[in-house]
Amino acid sequence: FADGDPNARLMFVGEGPGADEDMQGLPFVGKAGQLLNNMITAMGLKREQVYIANVVKCRPPENRTPLPEEMEICGQYLFRQIMVIKPKAICALGGTAAKALLGTKEGVTKLRGNWQSWHGIPLMVTYHPSYLLRPYNQNAKHEAWEDLKKLLHFVYD
Ligand code: URA
Repeated sequence: FADGDPNARLMFVGEGPGADEDMQGLPFVGKAGQLLNNMITAMGLKREQVYIANVVKCRPPENRTPLPEEMEICGQYLFRQIMVIKPKAICALGGTAAKALLGTKEGVTKLRGNWQSWHGIPLMVTYHPSYLLRPYNQNAKHEAWEDLKKLLHFVYD
């Protein structure tokens, strides 16, 4: 249901496990996970230093987007995880995490780059690593890096 340091100051929230995550029982260990690891390294951090969780805890069939009722049920669990970890800031990776945490229909493009809040905890939405892996979305990598720098300075300065 999560990976990383329970005392982490920074928490990442993704969508849900894919095939690799399902096999290993850990979030973000497949291709998207490798990119997330690189993003964390680029921030000068270690994966073991942050906390990583997903909105839904079971792999949706064929990796489909979680259904609203699945997000609702697993979201309760996610909210409790956040309350236990009490991070200084949250990074919502992609639209599903943004929707689950902010209850908004706005897309990532509109939300990213500006601070949002989850029950008083500053929250930054950015692109999901799977989105950033697609060759035609390479421009978004620059924007994602801007978002990560904001998080980094807020959390660690
Ligand atoms: N994508 C996610 O959103 N979460 C994972 O754990 C892996 C891929």
